[in-house]
Amino acid sequence: MTHVIQVDDLRTYIKTERGVVKAVDGVSFSVDEKEVLGVVGESGCGKSITALSIMQLLPDRFASIESGSINYIPRDGNASIDIARLNPKSREMRSIRGKEISMIFQEPMTSLNPVYTVGEQIIESLLLHEKMNKKEAMMRAVELLKHVGIPDPELRVREYPHQMSGGMRQRVMIAIALSCNPRFLIADEPTTALDVTIQAQILDLMKRLQQEHDMSIMMITHNMGVVGLMCDRVLVMYLGRVVEEAKVREIFKSPLHPYTLGLLNSIPKLNPKERKKDRLIPIAGNVPDPSEIVTGCRFAPRCPRAFDKCQEEPPLIEVETGHKVRCWLHE
Ligand SMILES: Nc1ncnc2c1ncn2[C@@H]1O[C@H](COP(=O)(O)OP(=O)(O)O)[C@@H](O)[C@H]1O
Ligand code: SF4
Ligand SMILES: [Mg+2]
Repeated sequence: MTHVIQVDDLRTYIKTERGVVKAVDGVSFSVDEKEVLGVVGESGCGKSITALSIMQLLPDRFASIESGSINYIPRDGNASIDIARLNPKSREMRSIRGKEISMIFQEPMTSLNPVYTVGEQIIESLLLHEKMNKKEAMMRAVELLKHVGIPDPELRVREYPHQMSGGMRQRVMIAIALSCNPRFLIADEPTTALDVTIQAQILDLMKRLQQEHDMSIMMITHNMGVVGLMCDRVLVMYLGRVVEEAKVREIFKSPLHPYTLGLLNSIPKLNPKERKKDRLIPIAGNVPDPSEIVTGCRFAPRCPRAFDKCQEEPPLIEVETGHKVRCWLHE
């Protein structure tokens, strides 16, 4: 199996008034061709900063990649490119971003520009990356809107984002992300801001497009239900670290890390009918601020199974081929 991306020991730190936050602290993973990798964890675990590191879209004044590598393996079989070493503004990075690797964000209203029509925003990357004139690009924009299930695309291509519903705006974001046929798509909580019925529709759409376009996807979510529906494999993150990694089938069948168990016990149902009868069991406590991390297992303050040894931080151990866990219970 060929990798599309290979991340090794990535460390991305954020400088804040309270000190340095190790938002991503030694994360390694790879994504295979045509694979959907889920990245799951509660808010503040470093999922978005991992994604923004890959895109080289970190807020440049105070966040930076300290060490590690992000190797992108191009489709033409040429040598891999270490994105971590590229200048975010370089020509090389701009030729990867939006063309080879695209990203969809949680809240389309903040990533779409209110003063341009959706058509103008779709053609932007077509004009940048593809050799098209404006008329050809507009025709392609209409096709793309149709492709993502927007009715009357010839009319809607001339609308502004505020004239559309949240679900339609997310479809527009997907159209923009797909415009140059990327090989690797990062979706950062793409349905979190939408109501459940629309969420299910957008996830269906993404699944269909992933198969049609043979794309690899990194699907960031805090919802294990989304992982179960969409993903082949999953990384569970906690406080800037990977705490468990496994095939999705495996994680639902035999989850190992107490944090993963907690996430599985608190799956919000995507089907509204099932929602009411379901009692969610939240994980006790909150994700601490990463600037307050002390020694030992990072999950220990919230872990129902913590014991003496947990004062020391466990390594990520491979318990079975492809199934890794960072917990002393599975030494
Ligand atoms: N712009 C920012 N300024 C300061 N701290 C930030 C910023 N963005 C993220 N962080 C911190 O980095 C850590 C990881 O954040 P993030 O990657 O956004 O988490 P997630 O996407 O898993 O919710 C959090 O502790 C968060 O507070
Ligand atoms: S190492 Fe200890 S504290 Fe950490 S998750 Fe495992 S049992 Fe809980
Ligand atoms: Mg996030």
